[in-house]
Amino acid sequence: MSTTWDPAAYLTFDDHRARPFHDLLARVTARSPRRVVDLGCGPGNLTTLLTARWPAADVEALDSSAEMVEAARVRGIDARRADVIGWTPLPDTDVVISNAVLQWVPQHRELLPRWIAALGPGAELAVQVPGNFGAPSHVLVRELAAQRSLQLRGEGAVAEPAEYAALLAATGAEVDVWETTYLHRLTGPDPVLKWIGSTALRPVRDALDERGYAEFRAELAPRLRTAYPAQPDGTTWFPFRRIFAVARVR
Ligand SMILES: C[S@@+](CC[C@H](N)C(=O)[O-])C[C@H]1O[C@@H](n2cnc3c(N)ncnc32)[C@H](O)[C@@H]1O
Repeated sequence: MSTTWDPAAYLTFDDHRARPFHDLLARVTARSPRRVVDLGCGPGNLTTLLTARWPAADVEALDSSAEMVEAARVRGIDARRADVIGWTPLPDTDVVISNAVLQWVPQHRELLPRWIAALGPGAELAVQVPGNFGAPSHVLVRELAAQRSLQLRGEGAVAEPAEYAALLAATGAEVDVWETTYLHRLTGPDPVLKWIGSTALRPVRDALDERGYAEFRAELAPRLRTAYPAQPDGTTWFPFRRIFAVARVR
């Protein structure tokens, strides 16, 4: 199933979504990298943090979505449309960031060691993927999708932290892997439905017609309200597990 993206909808929770990017970047030590790559740059709002941190670097940004590339370009990022599967680092690449992208790329477990092998000594590869495929937000979507014979990504879409640590360490790189569960405090009606509408629900939206998608959401909304109940003050706690890995080439 192909996935189309809506940059404006994706940016609705930009503060919450930016937090893991900051936490990932905090573990990258490069002082004056020559080339910094944002693999799957999305709407480019976080790419601007890379240009701000390393103003002298060549910042390369790519994404497979025409809509996202356009949104990044409007922001002044020199983004191009490309699939990470065919990407290889240029020889001067010192930092590679991929934030919340590789969960969409089933073969990423093979790509990571291949990229490390193509990077020079001292280069850093920093990756973050959501580790929440077993959370109610995803399980409920998969259950409703299965009733419509739609196959969505399951828990195997990403690896567990120990698996990333092992596959990166096997390259000989220095490895730093960790996980964090953020407790996002969301506001407004059906905030979890709104959150996943711009990410996990994109393949469902692409697969159904307008009426079918409206029915899907109408069935999903009360289930999500039960799994993530609104508090008396109207806010909703949304736990979101993220997995991080930074590899430094020796
Ligand atoms: C959840 S967004 C993350 C965007 C950005 N990195 C951020 O942290 O805000 C996922 C992005 O990955 C991109 N993407 C998914 N599969 C890709 C692939 N195979 N090659 C390049 N980009 C891909 C999507 O187009 C989308 O922009």
